[in-house]
Amino acid sequence: MAGEYHEPYELLPDEAIEFHRMIKSVIEELEAVDWYNQRAAVTKDPALKAIVEHNRDEEIEHACMGLEWLRRNFANWDENLRTYLFTEAPITEIEEAETGGAAAGEGAEPESGTDSSLGIKSLK
Ligand SMILES: [Fe+2]
Repeated sequence: MAGEYHEPYELLPDEAIEFHRMIKSVIEELEAVDWYNQRAAVTKDPALKAIVEHNRDEEIEHACMGLEWLRRNFANWDENLRTYLFTEAPITEIEEAETGGAAAGEGAEPESGTDSSLGIKSLK
């Protein structure tokens, strides 16, 4: 278990461990989406294709459930999902519109680089 962590497990607070659990779960779901999608793209068997497409779409549902948990429990996720999801403007222009262009080009730096709290809400 400890091998999956980047810091000593015994030092990690419960919130960071729960965060890790869901991040890993979402990664696994998205990986499964990709794998099923690739299988669907190449199989010659229509029945097999239908099954892996069905499975792929269920994994998308699972990934979205995980994202919603992250949104409910970590403020920065909520803020960013509200900013970027279900919008129509060119995606890279949304941040400029939000900040008046001041933050253009900041996309490569994770928010955690400037905020050690990660916007984490208490899970208790
Ligand atoms: Fe799943």
